[in-house]
Amino acid sequence: MKVGVFDSGIGGLTVVKSLLQHQLFEDIIYFGDTARVPYGIKDKNTIIRYAIEAVEFFKNFELDLIIVACNTVSAYALDEMRENSTCPIIGVVEAGVKAASNAIKDKNTNILILGTKATINSKAYEIGLVEKEFTNLQAKATGLFVPLVEEEIYDGAILQESFKHYFKDIKTPHAIILGCTHFPLISDALQNYFGKDTVLIHSGDAIVEQLESEFTFNKKYTNPNIKFFASENPEALRSVAKKWLNK
Ligand code: DGL
Repeated sequence: MKVGVFDSGIGGLTVVKSLLQHQLFEDIIYFGDTARVPYGIKDKNTIIRYAIEAVEFFKNFELDLIIVACNTVSAYALDEMRENSTCPIIGVVEAGVKAASNAIKDKNTNILILGTKATINSKAYEIGLVEKEFTNLQAKATGLFVPLVEEEIYDGAILQESFKHYFKDIKTPHAIILGCTHFPLISDALQNYFGKDTVLIHSGDAIVEQLESEFTFNKKYTNPNIKFFASENPEALRSVAKKWLNK
């Protein structure tokens, strides 16, 4: 299968990393809309318009599947993307809800949802988790983590200050949904901050879990072809990809 992976910037590389670890695809086309990141502070119509443009871009590649590796886009634009696409499209929010529900057995477990302002305002995770009968949810928009990660700041004083700023009123959760694909890059720092017993739900692992439950993969691809595209400065994206993915 040939898959397209879409994110607003470099965060979706965390999903590519999970796809590579599980060796599911022979060809991966990555598109990061780096010229217009962040999406998480934009309004719904803008997010939908950008997402449809990404679908148009992917039409150049005869894909079998598009993975929306951006929670913000998954929360707002999946239906519109599907209406404009000739191949199936799956998104990280639905996958994350399923993964949380598989991983967390106690429906009263305190779950903290982190995401961009747009994702948190959409309540997409809360709606999905309430449908799965979870009762004890907290949500926090932590958009500042996005530019920090884009700046390759994964720990240190600035990040710790932003933790203090965002989490001062948060009850220590038993599980955290990393509801933005940029956030797995700071998962070590989050784990240290909240403690080792806190379970972190990661969009990339969630997507792999959903793919493996919905499709049959007969072969492992140990050396897939990956092409990286960006709407601005593709060299910067490729250099980050090289560092994170060895690709
Ligand atoms: N990676 C995007 C997400 O998962 C967020 C980054 C942005 O604000 O564009 O929500």
